[in-house]
Amino acid sequence: MNNLILDLFYKNEISEIPIWFLRQSGRHIPEYFLIRNRARDFIDFCSSTNLIVEATKLPLKYYNLDAAIVFSDILMIPWIMKRDVKFEKSIGPILNPLIPNDSKIIKDVNVVKKLEPLKQALKILRKDLPSQISLIGFSGAPWTIACYMIEGRSSKDFVNTRKALWNSNKWFMELIETLTMYIIDKLEMQAKAGADILMIFDSWSHMIPNNFFKEMAINPTKKIINVLRSKNINVPIIGLPFKAGTSLVDYSYESEVDCIALDWTVNIDWAIKNLNPSVAIQGNLDPVSLIPENSEHLEKNVNLILNSTRQRRFIFNVGHGITPECKMENVKRVVEIVKTFKK
Ligand code: CP3
Repeated sequence: MNNLILDLFYKNEISEIPIWFLRQSGRHIPEYFLIRNRARDFIDFCSSTNLIVEATKLPLKYYNLDAAIVFSDILMIPWIMKRDVKFEKSIGPILNPLIPNDSKIIKDVNVVKKLEPLKQALKILRKDLPSQISLIGFSGAPWTIACYMIEGRSSKDFVNTRKALWNSNKWFMELIETLTMYIIDKLEMQAKAGADILMIFDSWSHMIPNNFFKEMAINPTKKIINVLRSKNINVPIIGLPFKAGTSLVDYSYESEVDCIALDWTVNIDWAIKNLNPSVAIQGNLDPVSLIPENSEHLEKNVNLILNSTRQRRFIFNVGHGITPECKMENVKRVVEIVKTFKK
């Protein structure tokens, strides 16, 4: 059997559509909690090679997927930078917030050494997983990680981060540049340990003031990719500029990603017409459509996406992470529809 996703990138043409799901390893599978409960807390979970391996493999036990995404979190970089990262039930991540201009930005952490359990997990996974399944390593993008580090938690508008961008620009750029360096180290380590695809999550790119989009989202991504390429890391790279709207066009032409992941608000026909045709597309099913039981809309919508992307290199996925309420039956149904569809 072929590795569909790698064929898509390297051979440029495939007859079947590859499929995987953002947050496929999470809470919508009851067994996930059995794995999570064996760790002291979420950081401990992401620091245990055995638990990472088990959580990464979990969705493959139930679904016929073309990729496994390694179990970790984008907030492992702030944790390494000693920002006291915690995950609170029903709140989400809580960090010790950085104070713009005042907080010192640590520049000398050894990312590879601190993420040794992740590295070991990737080595085991690449050996254990069948060769037709792609192994995805990932990182947050600098802007998105900065958002959590300054705000100290999730936010609906990230006002403190945007204030820092406007009022403490020199300090902010220092943070972005430092994060860019750590992200490169983390991605390089993952590719060397066995990840055959890398993904960069810019989950809060829609908070970037438009005139800063190039400086905050496109240029750092391009730098990450250029440095990786100069180090001979040539694996395909997927970028998620979440809800970036009209900025998706420039991102597709200038960031140098090999594939652009689309959120569920993007009109897929518009994307095909307007985004760089040499960049593959991933997405853009609404993850919430996987919640209602026996929905007549789900199948219709999956088919609409499949028909629209016939002429394009396309990876089926949701437009953002599947939620804990998602029904496993729906995921199975979507996989079946995609797997029986012929381009
Ligand atoms: O299955 C997978 O996708 C692999 C693992 C993965 C996790 N986080 C595990 C996780 C991945 C790829 C991420 C990326 C991530 N983490 C992003 C980028 C993608 C996105 O969702 O936009 C972001 C913004 C985070 C930060 C984060 N981590 C938040 C906001 C939360 C809490 C709220 C939520 O969405 O669940 C986490 C915790 C987290 N990371 C969980 C999982 C499975 C839930 C932890 C739990 O309660 O057991």
